[in-house]
Amino acid sequence: MPQKVAVLVLAAGRGTRSGGGVPKQYRPIGGRPVIRASLEIFGSHPRIGTVQPVVHADDEALFVAAVAGLRVQEPVIGGATRQASVLAGLAALETSKPDIVLVHDAARPFLSSALVDRAIDAAAATGAAIPALPVTDTVKVVDGEGRVTQTIDRAALRTVQTPQAFDFQKLLAAHRRAAESSRQDFTDDAALAEWAGLTVTTFEGESRNMKLTTAEDFAKLEEEEFARLPDIRTGMGFDVHAFGPGDHVTLGGVRIAHDQAITGHSDADVALHALVDAILGALADGDIGSHFPPSDPQWRGASSDRFLRFAVERVAARGGRIAHLDVSIVCEAPKIGPHRDAIRQRIAGIAGVTVDRVAVKATTNEQLGFIGRREGIVAYATATVRLPWSGGHAR
Ligand code: CTP
Ligand code: MG
Repeated sequence: MPQKVAVLVLAAGRGTRSGGGVPKQYRPIGGRPVIRASLEIFGSHPRIGTVQPVVHADDEALFVAAVAGLRVQEPVIGGATRQASVLAGLAALETSKPDIVLVHDAARPFLSSALVDRAIDAAAATGAAIPALPVTDTVKVVDGEGRVTQTIDRAALRTVQTPQAFDFQKLLAAHRRAAESSRQDFTDDAALAEWAGLTVTTFEGESRNMKLTTAEDFAKLEEEEFARLPDIRTGMGFDVHAFGPGDHVTLGGVRIAHDQAITGHSDADVALHALVDAILGALADGDIGSHFPPSDPQWRGASSDRFLRFAVERVAARGGRIAHLDVSIVCEAPKIGPHRDAIRQRIAGIAGVTVDRVAVKATTNEQLGFIGRREGIVAYATATVRLPWSGGHAR
């Protein structure tokens, strides 16, 4: 009979070493959250019955957004340490009685389906097995002053990864014993299993299966990702709307109190409209009016972040990335400066880029012409988009 296999995907950590922003398991890599990659591998693996995520109580919204459409269990809330999170996950699996449990760090998005097979096979054979890689650097032991006291024979050394795979009942019993003995300091399940007296075996790990830990890890990945997108394109966009009666304007997705409103199609956010056209321009993919005709009543009063999201999705659908967005707003009033950072944050949030890739500038029109007479407002934008090489140049 095939064995029942469950996997815990651990995502209850805070990612303190990986720098600011959302916890690292929800940061985007390749346009999707880190956690989604391993959940997809497990969820589509024919030998895995149950995929049980373990998350932090504060991350519910991030989790829901990250797993849309995937085959996963309702998440369990983890604990203050990795070990406590594993125990919470194991307890949640207890009623479904899997034979084998895999424990995986959500912070390792690059595992392969073949590694999952090796983990299951090894656990079925030995009851406790972990992916391991030989150490290629020579390893030294040093004293408090950094002086070498010993050179270790590296032939016997391994670095280990997840998924670690165990007989479910044995791992659960070991975790319960550790908790009863007030041992809370095990950083992986193999260490806990060794402490509990289990023999832990190894199988071949994968060098690509690294754990994303530091801000540099993410920076390096982003650099590699951009390097794979050599077709660099710039698009420009322009928009103008008239002022009319009202008490606020919406610019760059931010509501700004003002003694006039901007009139026009949708919420008349000239900054976002110019950005949408800039992105569509970089893609040579029509303009905002061709995708959202002003004659269509469904766009009346629409919030323009929808249009920007649409343009961003068109970039993702081409396998590309937005490298930079730059917008200039021209009006006598309201003053944009005090709202500049809020607008940058908002645009970055909608576009799924970091705020250092969004510029917002403003100028008056020196009281000249229709802008100077406060009859209208203008925005100019450029977007720099990186795409995979697609060939197809006109001769
Ligand atoms: N983890 C967990 N519960 C905890 C701590 C960690 O589920 N209380 C998970 C993390 O989400 C991660 C994995 O265990 O997927 C490995 O831990 P680590 O790389 O240390 O992640 P963090 O604890 O989030 O990062 P940091 O130590 O930098 O804060
Ligand atoms: Mg940690």
